[in-house]
Amino acid sequence: MPAHKQTSVFFGVAFTVAGIFLQPAFADDAPTTTSRSNPEIEKRISLLIENMTLEEKLGQLTQQWGGESQDVNPGAKKQALDDILGVVRAGIAGSFLGAYGAEYTNRIQKVAIEESKHHIPMLIGNDVIHGFRTIFPVPLAEAATWDVGLVEQAERIAAVEARAAGTHWTFAPMVDVCRDARWGRIVETSGEDPFLSAKMAAARVRGFQGEGLNRNDAILACAKHYIAYGAAEGGRDYNTVDLSEYALRETHLPSFAASVDAGVGSIMSAFNEINGVPASANDMTLRGILRNELGFDGLVVSDWSSITEMINHGYAADPADAAAKSLAAGVDMDMCSFSYRDTLKKSVESGRVSIRLIDDSVARILRAKFVLGLFDNPYAEPSLEKRVTLSAEHRAFARKVAAKSMVLLKNDAGLLPLSDSIESIAVIGPLAKNQHDPLGTWSLNGRDEDVVSVIDGLKQRVGDKVLLQYAQGSDFLTGDDAMRNEAVAAAKDAKVALLFVGEAENMSGEAYCRATIDLPAPQLELVKAVHATGTPTIVVLMTGRPIVIPWISENIQAIVEAWHPGVECGNAVADVLFGDENPAARLPVTWPRHVGQIPLYYNHKMTGRPPAENNRYTSKYIDIPWTPQYPFGFGLSYTTFAYANLTIEGAASAPSNPIKVAVDVTNTGSRDGDEVVQLYIRDLVASRTRPVRELKGFKRLSIPKGETKQVTFELTRDHLSFYGVDMKRIVEPGRFQVFVGPNCTTGVEGEFEIK
Ligand code: NOJ
Repeated sequence: MPAHKQTSVFFGVAFTVAGIFLQPAFADDAPTTTSRSNPEIEKRISLLIENMTLEEKLGQLTQQWGGESQDVNPGAKKQALDDILGVVRAGIAGSFLGAYGAEYTNRIQKVAIEESKHHIPMLIGNDVIHGFRTIFPVPLAEAATWDVGLVEQAERIAAVEARAAGTHWTFAPMVDVCRDARWGRIVETSGEDPFLSAKMAAARVRGFQGEGLNRNDAILACAKHYIAYGAAEGGRDYNTVDLSEYALRETHLPSFAASVDAGVGSIMSAFNEINGVPASANDMTLRGILRNELGFDGLVVSDWSSITEMINHGYAADPADAAAKSLAAGVDMDMCSFSYRDTLKKSVESGRVSIRLIDDSVARILRAKFVLGLFDNPYAEPSLEKRVTLSAEHRAFARKVAAKSMVLLKNDAGLLPLSDSIESIAVIGPLAKNQHDPLGTWSLNGRDEDVVSVIDGLKQRVGDKVLLQYAQGSDFLTGDDAMRNEAVAAAKDAKVALLFVGEAENMSGEAYCRATIDLPAPQLELVKAVHATGTPTIVVLMTGRPIVIPWISENIQAIVEAWHPGVECGNAVADVLFGDENPAARLPVTWPRHVGQIPLYYNHKMTGRPPAENNRYTSKYIDIPWTPQYPFGFGLSYTTFAYANLTIEGAASAPSNPIKVAVDVTNTGSRDGDEVVQLYIRDLVASRTRPVRELKGFKRLSIPKGETKQVTFELTRDHLSFYGVDMKRIVEPGRFQVFVGPNCTTGVEGEFEIK
């Protein structure tokens, strides 16, 4: 069974209970990729292409804004709707983005099917990034669960809601790897590690695309942004990327390769240039690696205007030049720059662009529409939309994911979990009574009124048994004495003070890059003032990225990173703070002490002079430590775990056969809990230097208190290999170290040798 065909137990249960039918919409054959595998479909595609004019073909290659929906400001949208329907009728666009709702999209679709010449349905794409209406935690937080099954289910739910609302295609998963927390879009990634990112990417693709793209519960996924968008210089969005082919392949390619292996239907080309050639016209990365090496046969869409932005890059002279270059490199669809529609006709007539290239791209777009079942079943079902949108089951699952994504960073003196018999709590901070910012970035269909605020979640949990006193204390970026004094007074009167501080939704995300990634001064002052009251103080951070918090790390006894948790924010926070959910999430990124350490990542190379405390001429700073605040993979629990009995078997016949690694993990504390067991390797001597640690396996599992579980991993050729000087993957003979533990810095160690 291919990986992308795995079934989901959760859905079997939840949706039978909910009575929702998730059967194939029209056919027995349920395609899970956009590859050309069905001769019947290929025949229909050829027939259409034979009968289309060049203008109509260019229409299929064009994606434009779809007017959102009628219930968003209907008056203002009236004109837009007329224009939109006109475009559909004329067949001069093949796809919309930003069109939502079963009724609205059906209206568009009806015109396409009934009034356009070839009756070709519209392909409607949207940014369904961490949920559709049921907003889940931001992607970085989802990755912090280290639970691929959970993330897959979250995307299933997103797909169910989106498809019911007329969305056929999501511009997700974002599979960029990022080692720079200044970059606002780190929030959309699965963090800094290629292996974790690849696992999350595949899970998300499976989740979106489900059991068959022609079903009414599945949407086409789009792995983005191809490629190396996360390596923008200075952490500044859209910025130049200059990196070796080795780094490109080792760090940035694996998550795309995993997406392709999982059957992803589409890929988005990125805004950035790579070594002087923009990603949206990069023949080496698009045709060379993506199409030829990885064998990707699906649809490639540009990012928004990334084709004509090549004029700014200095890579194209004008829109015609840009369009010809992108098409030649393999970008099938133009998102919103209109350069294909406006210029390719002339370029074909002048002989610059071959019609064969255009036909190939049209075919890929039509194939996606066929595979999605849109020719036979173009409409969304309003009654299904009503039933699934923000259903109780979806909310319950969002709460679970949110609680499982919260990282316990510090818990001295066992301040957490809170006791049920606590008398009073001060609930303070700009995120404490906030129903907007917990949604996080890219929650286009999320609504503030859907969000359970922290204070409401806590009230729900404690009823009238505990006195909750709220004070905002400060805004995100500004504050004053009066606000702070009110918070201090609340803290003084309480047995414990909970501070909910961090970032507003628009402090991370696209174009929300920060040169200083600290907790803004008014919030830090608030934390200090509350701490100074002497009331035990717990800081709950809600952010879209790691932020720099040296004072808090040193002085506050208990710290939780709750990220932007989505609609179930308050309930999930209460679950974790009161211990109904024993936290087990782990950092998918290295947490810096200071912005000046960036880029800081765990899988770095060893230098000739590794940092050493008492040797000046080693690789370090004179003003701050070289070590992170919290390492990659780090996170605490309300219980404790011990690792023992590492065994390594099968090295003699490796890499032809897998090496088996096993370890005993014991829950040595007094509560049941989950542990994320992580396996890292180090290839000690190689023809190309290898990182000091490389994640090659992880398992999140529940271990009851007092019990021991044996956890096993397999290391295959794939895990042991790297790109040699000829850019081919090789495994070299020699010694490898193995580390198995709760994060990248501790655990049990062993060694094996490949002969
Ligand atoms: C630009 C973003 O870079 C991309 O991620 C997104 O999918 C498109 N805009 C469409 O909204």
